[in-house]
Amino acid sequence: MNLCRLIYSSYASPDTGYEDLKDIMEKSERNNRRDGVTGVLCYGDSMFLQVLEGNRKIVSKTYHRIATDKRHHTPALIECVATQSRLFQSWSMQAVRLVDLNAEEVRQLILQYSDTTTFQPDLMTAQQCLKFIYKLSELKKK
Ligand SMILES: Cc1cc2nc3c(=O)[nH]c(=O)nc-3n(C[C@H](O)[C@H](O)[C@H](O)COP(=O)(O)O)c2cc1C
Repeated sequence: MNLCRLIYSSYASPDTGYEDLKDIMEKSERNNRRDGVTGVLCYGDSMFLQVLEGNRKIVSKTYHRIATDKRHHTPALIECVATQSRLFQSWSMQAVRLVDLNAEEVRQLILQYSDTTTFQPDLMTAQQCLKFIYKLSELKKK
């Protein structure tokens, strides 16, 4: 299989709200399960950070569909690489909203994996994004 991992960040549009997030997650879970795509979508401080894993052609098609969605803008590609294995195989798309987690624990992770004090994924490296997301999904399980 031609497995790849794609990471991008984007800015939520000013009128994107809770109902939009619910709709995005419903569609993501349905489409990604059908397409064999897995990953995590993180939302905080009006920014998105998403990891998509799966067949390269399908991930590419999914990303291009997402990039035209008016509920966010200025998507910035952080990484698109071939990989041997998935990191988030249990999730067709796991949603992580930073406001749902312990604020101090989130702050510690932001400090650990970036040189900023607020969530600014466009300034993080791919490795930092991955480690940050991995730790976030562990916090969510608590
Ligand atoms: C930040 C963000 C992340 C999204 N992630 C996904 C995703 O992982 N998979 C997906 O199918 N759609 C995702 N969407 C929704 C798509 O842009 C699009 O609305 C949806 O795929 C259309 O599905 P439909 O053709 O079944 O109606 C995302 C949208 C946004 C704004």
